[in-house]
Amino acid sequence: MLRIGMLTSGGDCQALNAAMRGVVKGLSAQKEKLEVYGFIDGYKGLMYENYKKLTSNDFSGILTQGGTILGTSRQPFKQMRNPDENGLDKVEAMKSTYKKLKLDCLVVLGGNGTQKTANLLREEGLNVIHLPKTIDNDIWGTDVTFGFQSAIDIATNAIDCIHTTAASHSRVFIVEIMGHKVGWITLFAGIAGGADIILLPEIPYDMDKVIKALEKRNKAGKKFSILAVAEGAISKEDAALSKKELKAKRAASTYPSISYELAEQIKERTGQELRITIPGHTQRGGSPDPYDRVLATRLGSFAAQLILEEKYGYMAAIQNNQMVAVPLEEAAGKLKTVDPDCDIIKGAKTMGISFGD
Ligand code: F6P
Repeated sequence: MLRIGMLTSGGDCQALNAAMRGVVKGLSAQKEKLEVYGFIDGYKGLMYENYKKLTSNDFSGILTQGGTILGTSRQPFKQMRNPDENGLDKVEAMKSTYKKLKLDCLVVLGGNGTQKTANLLREEGLNVIHLPKTIDNDIWGTDVTFGFQSAIDIATNAIDCIHTTAASHSRVFIVEIMGHKVGWITLFAGIAGGADIILLPEIPYDMDKVIKALEKRNKAGKKFSILAVAEGAISKEDAALSKKELKAKRAASTYPSISYELAEQIKERTGQELRITIPGHTQRGGSPDPYDRVLATRLGSFAAQLILEEKYGYMAAIQNNQMVAVPLEEAAGKLKTVDPDCDIIKGAKTMGISFGD
């Protein structure tokens, strides 16, 4: 008999269901007696013993389904050691549920914060396997996360749609793309959508350079321009502030997001007509694209293999198109950011795309 627990934690993304299906199909094909416990709304379900006993049938027909059949929630790692409002020790509660259900392993699907908690549970003696999900693609140790490619598709489609209307009206458009700490989606969708200016959190922008890039296009007779801007894009001036100063500045700001601040400055300095488009959570929604379905299925079936080999305490990852097991203790707490000197950016710059630097 093999008993596994499974949960999805943090912001959702495409292909969570495909990955869980990969795990369960991979196990049930090789193990006659399998029990699967699905925890509801992430770590919360594990803390408060809120779970469903599932059968392999529950994982049929979900390959193409967006979201997560288990539900999810954000349970900040920072607060894991703090008792809840009723004094409950969250870590002890999670361990107790795991032990009560006599689980052999807990499969956790999530991003960086989720991974840190998975590592904490590993340190506390639980058998844990992590599957790297996030549209942000910022998990260290894996070349790519599932959800990323589907988000690129959606963000690119948004830029494509904006292109035609921007051209018709001779307008400047800002398309704000998800990613507070990292600019992976913005970089890829920006290039795929033919954006003229791409602003990433990893490359603080100089407003003078942004204006110069716009003026250069105007002089070349281009009547419209498109800026792909990450949620976390930051000016050089703001990047030079201390964390405390930046927090205070943002708290006092009346702009809903960075795009509005940029828009006001561009309007002021160029007089050009400007619009903002924010695809927002649509980037995390809908059906996973074929790439993510394949990636999630591969990672899921690889995780099943690790479980069958009783190889616990790892993230199932992809490196150079090979499935690899990355120790959680090595990966947890590291962020995979865009290298400003990478080939993709160098190449884009040679084509005249401005990164505002
Ligand atoms: O982590 C994924 C992500 O979609 C980020 O790109 C985005 O900044 C954030 O989550 C949004 O979080 P929430 O869904 O809590 O608004």
